Amino acid sequence: MKVLVIGGAGYIGAHVAKAFLEAGAKVAVYDDLSTGHKTNLFGGTDFIEGNILDYERLKSAMEQGIDAVVHLAAKKAVGESMENPELYASNNVSGMVNILNAMSACRVKVLVFSSSAAVYGMPEYLPVDENHPLKPINFYGFTKLECERLMDWYDRLKGIKYTALRYFNAAGYDASGAVRGRDAKPQNLLPIIKEVVDKKRECLLVFGDDYDTRDGTCVRDYVHVSDLAAAHLAAVRRLLEGKPSAIYNLGTSRGETVKEVVAATEKVIGRPLPVRFVPRRPGDPAVLVASNEKAKKELGWQPAYTDIEDIIKTELL
Ligand code: UD1
Repeated sequence: MKVLVIGGAGYIGAHVAKAFLEAGAKVAVYDDLSTGHKTNLFGGTDFIEGNILDYERLKSAMEQGIDAVVHLAAKKAVGESMENPELYASNNVSGMVNILNAMSACRVKVLVFSSSAAVYGMPEYLPVDENHPLKPINFYGFTKLECERLMDWYDRLKGIKYTALRYFNAAGYDASGAVRGRDAKPQNLLPIIKEVVDKKRECLLVFGDDYDTRDGTCVRDYVHVSDLAAAHLAAVRRLLEGKPSAIYNLGTSRGETVKEVVAATEKVIGRPLPVRFVPRRPGDPAVLVASNEKAKKELGWQPAYTDIEDIIKTELL
């Protein structure tokens, strides 16, 4: 099996590339290194430096006997997507159009796409399953939903089979320390906590402690990145077996509050973590937890990491 991992030098993409290599697949990584890192490229991978807005380059990357594409190249900062929608429309939506057109031209028939729980918007019930209404409340989530809809039409019209994996809160790093590249400007809870632990940042600002949750802080479903990677492998195999297109939530179905994540970090590092409580961040739901029953049943997926402390240990490596 030969897989083209688009965005394979990024945080989740590098873990995905590693999972495919370990399964014995041939891996080519396509990445423009705008947020990805060369240090995230493993021995044995072909590397093509390119942007997904470059249709010709994408097409030439796919002309080399690719069985499947895994697409993880996207802009992912929710706040930035609201301030600069043009960037997100081009990268996330036009980029997806180019990938689908290149796949169509090169007759590549299997696509696994990195989607997000952001397609649901504010949860109307919990846990959130795949039938939950799709009402994104930020432009980032809207672009992910548009990509899913584009894939659906290319399935109907061009026979490209797809799987959209809707990640909840991706967290942690490969336990062996194989993925070294970190986000330069982290925006998510665990990478920010790592900067506080490493004393690169004075303290963690906790956004709101007056939510209707067990301790007043928001609950999220933190799923380990190596578990996410395993799901991509299972999804590609399933499509190559001839199964139909599908959409899966990827989460643990567990949820931790921000205070619980802080307490677990303190246990791991053996000292208090400097924390300051500040007002709520706009657009944050109180609780966001996945139903992962469909992925378990149809992909045979089971997250190996079930304890937030173990996830945090890998984040702090
Ligand atoms: C968001 C998106 C998600 C996207 C992800 C990656 C939504 C609903 N979710 O997740 O789809 O894939 O970003 O960019 O749009 N927190 C603090 N202090 C901080 C940072 C975070 O208290 O400095 C809290 C947040 O309020 C939240 C939790 O930590 O309760 C997790 O936040 P974050 O890591 O930013 O992820 P989400 O906003 O849940």
